[in-house]
Amino acid sequence: MAIFLLDKPLFLHILTQLRDERTDQVAFRKGMVRLGRLIGYEIANRLDFEIVEVKTPIGVSTKGLVIRDIDNILIVNILRAATPLVEGLLKAFPAAKQGVIAASRMEIGESQTSSSPPTEMDVKISYEKMPKISSKDIAIIADPMIATASTMLSALRRVSYANPRRIIIASVISSSYGIRRIQNHYPDVDIFTVSIDPEINLSGYIVPGLGDAGDRSFG
Ligand code: URA
Repeated sequence: MAIFLLDKPLFLHILTQLRDERTDQVAFRKGMVRLGRLIGYEIANRLDFEIVEVKTPIGVSTKGLVIRDIDNILIVNILRAATPLVEGLLKAFPAAKQGVIAASRMEIGESQTSSSPPTEMDVKISYEKMPKISSKDIAIIADPMIATASTMLSALRRVSYANPRRIIIASVISSSYGIRRIQNHYPDVDIFTVSIDPEINLSGYIVPGLGDAGDRSFG
């Protein structure tokens, strides 16, 4: 598994707006869409390609490049927080198929009371709709926030059974613990993330994080 840390200035500029508690709902959602588009381009730049000949309207042939799998992309939208991120990813991969998984984490307190951060969380999947996944597909699972990775592991189970050619995670903030957990269970998965944050608090939120991504996008 490779970790692609997308920490160039434009990514961090947008991330800083998202982290800022003063950023309102509309600006937050727009920032997520912009990051989705930029993450999509970074993913596209790391897909396999081939050099081809192309003839221009001038009647001349020249060398070109074709990304082989640009039309074999499946994007999995983990509702509802990933929706703006997926909107951005679709700008990079307009022909992508889309699957949705509605997942909610059980709040701490409902399931347990503890003085140490959770190492996993109960995840309730209330709806799932996936297009047919083929062995040619590159599956991109989008979740802006990977804390304990319980939601992501649940999505990975649902996608990996169909053996897509490659599985990629598109995330904005991942905790170092969540990344280790994914690495242990799915060593072949690639993770694209803008930041790796060090901690998870007692309520299961990433620290410093940006709060609840779903609430900040949609209220
Ligand atoms: N989901 C969020 O929206 N925020 C976190 O910090 C962790 C999970």
